[in-house]
Amino acid sequence: MADDMLADQEPLDLEALRTALPINGLGTSIIYAPVIPSTNSLALDSIARDAVPGLLILTDAQPQGRGRQGRAWHSMPGQQILLSLLLTPPFAPRWLVMMSALGLFEALVESGLPDERVGIKWPNDVLIDGRKVAGILIETTTGRDGALWAVVGLGVNVNGSLEAESALAGSATTVATALGHPIAREALLLAFLRHLGAHYAALARTPTATAPVLAQWRERLVTLGRTVVVHQGDQQLRGMAENLTEDGALLLRDDGGIVHTILWGDIES
Ligand code: BTN
Repeated sequence: MADDMLADQEPLDLEALRTALPINGLGTSIIYAPVIPSTNSLALDSIARDAVPGLLILTDAQPQGRGRQGRAWHSMPGQQILLSLLLTPPFAPRWLVMMSALGLFEALVESGLPDERVGIKWPNDVLIDGRKVAGILIETTTGRDGALWAVVGLGVNVNGSLEAESALAGSATTVATALGHPIAREALLLAFLRHLGAHYAALARTPTATAPVLAQWRERLVTLGRTVVVHQGDQQLRGMAENLTEDGALLLRDDGGIVHTILWGDIES
């Protein structure tokens, strides 16, 4: 099955990753298999068994990848970064939502993309030229030890092209399409872990010092000042994305002038 799915694609260079990790406590151990149905599902199972914080789960192909609000995550075998990172953050998981998107933003800029071409759509879709290049799914659960565990699930469309995918071509892209050439997935993955690790370590040291993450994430958000539709399951709310709370929730002014505090949802603009 793995051979079919990956055809002539190069697998991740595990040796290079093992040499560089862990970074700031991320990637203390690695689980890799060429095909994993969903790295987040495996991560949640591992927490119920014997996981240690910092565990990184990686794959090259994910036939049942899960997205937010019950969506599926489109699979491009051998061409994406597909990971789940298991953490026990000493701060609220919403900060992981922000710092994961910020860490990927910073890694993409480091890979050669001008920062004006990269943006974050509230709360954590990472865009290049207005098209989605990565999705983040953070899930939490209580471990056997009673601690709060968080799974940071990240999917990045790195190489290949989505131009032939009629359902996605207008709204999604790959890093290679944006750069005009393919890049090493390992380098982007390590840059992401380095940037996320720096934000994580800083907030773990002083869990009340959230202002720097909020400020940096806010600076990269493309959502504020726009008229948007927020989708929350079957519910929709249209309004002006006016501002953020100090916890990163979105303040949306509807057409009747009422300001709603939005804690979760998908934004259409
Ligand atoms: C979204 O944009 O809706 C979030 C997509 C998250 C996809 C990643 S891929 C690795 C990890 N494992 C999963 O099953 N999902 C996340």
